[in-house]
Amino acid sequence: MSKIYITNSIFISSDHAGYNLKNIIVEFLISKNVKVVDLGPNNKDSVDYPDYAKKLVKKISNSKYGILICGTGIGMSIMANRYKKVRAALVSSVKIAKLAREHNNSNILILGSRVTNKINALNIVNNFFKTKFLKGRHLKRIRKLKNV
Ligand code: RB5
Repeated sequence: MSKIYITNSIFISSDHAGYNLKNIIVEFLISKNVKVVDLGPNNKDSVDYPDYAKKLVKKISNSKYGILICGTGIGMSIMANRYKKVRAALVSSVKIAKLAREHNNSNILILGSRVTNKINALNIVNNFFKTKFLKGRHLKRIRKLKNV
């Protein structure tokens, strides 16, 4: 696996369904010397995904990245993408992880813990954060992503 190029801290958060996978990803990122800020939850008690998406999104700006995890990833995606600075991508494969960065300059990776296994999730995380935005024609397109 090549090096993750992100130098800022990566923020991470989940709901109860994503709690175990969140901890696995935190350990993985730390093992790769990436700074991680875990915004919770700190146990598996039932919580509401919009609350934890909101908590993380507030930390996101240019060159600040995040990971959100819920059961399917759908609730987190809906909530995160309501915010202007966010380009959150619900990712289920390494190919999508790379394209989400190359074409969409996605700044939040979303995973569904009930539909993605651990190995796939770690490969997705690794590839998402080591892939750079291609700019060019894609820059013009993401500039058109305005609230309607
Ligand atoms: C929680 O049971 C579940 O609804 C949540 O994790 C997520 O999948 C919602 O989109």
